[in-house]
Amino acid sequence: MLYGQNERIARKEDDDMQKLAIEGGKILNGELAVHGAKNSALPLLAACVLARGETVLHNCPRLSDVFAACRILSQLGCKCQRNGSTVAVNTDGLVNFDVPDELMREMRSSIVFLGAILGRLGKCRLSFPGGCELGPRPIDMHIAALKRMGAVIHEEYGILDCTVPKGLSGAKITLPFPSVGATENIMLAAVLAKGETVIHNAAREPEISDLADFLNACGAKIKGCGTDRITIQGVAELHGCEFAVMPDRIVAATYLAAAAITGGEIRVTHVRPQDLDSVLPVFEQMGCSVYAYGASVYLSAKKPLKAVKNIRTMPYPGFPTDAQAIVMAVLCKARGTSVIVETIFENRFRQIDELCRMGADAKAEGKVAIIDGVKTLYGATVRATDLRGGACLVLAGLAAQGQTIVESVKLIDRGYESIEDSLNAAGAKILRIG
Ligand code: UD1
Repeated sequence: MLYGQNERIARKEDDDMQKLAIEGGKILNGELAVHGAKNSALPLLAACVLARGETVLHNCPRLSDVFAACRILSQLGCKCQRNGSTVAVNTDGLVNFDVPDELMREMRSSIVFLGAILGRLGKCRLSFPGGCELGPRPIDMHIAALKRMGAVIHEEYGILDCTVPKGLSGAKITLPFPSVGATENIMLAAVLAKGETVIHNAAREPEISDLADFLNACGAKIKGCGTDRITIQGVAELHGCEFAVMPDRIVAATYLAAAAITGGEIRVTHVRPQDLDSVLPVFEQMGCSVYAYGASVYLSAKKPLKAVKNIRTMPYPGFPTDAQAIVMAVLCKARGTSVIVETIFENRFRQIDELCRMGADAKAEGKVAIIDGVKTLYGATVRATDLRGGACLVLAGLAAQGQTIVESVKLIDRGYESIEDSLNAAGAKILRIG
């Protein structure tokens, strides 16, 4: 059955059976606007818990993970209303401090609600987020940091029961690794804590700065975001504000990759080119012409693609792990041997087996992937392995000979607003079926 756009948005969340049918070989040309960043919208929605009254978030993407975050807010007693890409959250009715297991399971990153709920209500109960498709994702750094701030945390049968008998207090915290989620959770717990919190070896991702800008607009006192030392001076209360979520840098990279792999030409708008500083040079090394100006990036791929010898995923400002699979799709068609080293997640090469079904010559050995470019990819039935791995298969399908069916589209819907509508607007031929 084929769906109209509204039906598709409504149905996407529940439907695990949907597939994308991609007719390969269309050259992508044109202009695509990038929606708001999933990885910023999620902590911002959690942060709304900390503010009294109403908060309005613009540019809030219509993604299944964002819908899940809104369901968590409703479960806590907040009012969460969406109008287009604007979400209004009112915390007047905030009474609950527990996130049910089924909501925690929907989205692993809901752990970011822990710091916010604890900061506002002084207690929180949620289930331990288990492993995910990227391999084990422990939360030891989140827990250790919150304990240093005065949280008492019991874990029993997979449930985390957290209280703050003496209130949360500022602390000096040195993270063993600049974890994005742990940095966010500490910031959320610290804004209403007593005294000063200093995070050393903090994550420097642009989404961290977006969270700080939002919290500061609500009355928080946070300095140093974008550096590895963040200082948070606790305040008595936060008020609501109006804020626009930053653009999604990984969606931008995906659109650029779609033009690169099909030999097309694209202008991606509503982006912040500086957030793509480590990604754009990789497209240039492949032989693409790339220009950034204002809030746009232009890419033209009129020359044959070349391999890239060494890509290493690293915390920001290094090459983002979330763009690894996306770039890999393009490298499958680049002349020569490319090497990607994945240093952030253990299990992030699962797309390779599926790419090989399409005729790619790629293999993974531990943290290293070796990709020998091929002349032709062939359409096949493949399954999205995770969000970005799924986007990688869509990209490969765009360049493949014949039809590609990508199954488990639900995983792709976690991070892309109707990926098929966006790419079709630039000349792709993709249908959602199921
Ligand atoms: C966030 C992003 C995700 C991105 C990742 C790395 C969101 C919603 N998700 O995930 O898209 O791929 O950053 O840029 O923003 N770790 C521990 N213990 C901890 C916390 C993390 O060992 O307590 C490890 C993780 O297993 C992983 C590494 O640290 O190997 C990086 O994780 P982290 O930066 O925390 O990523 P997330 O916040 O989960």
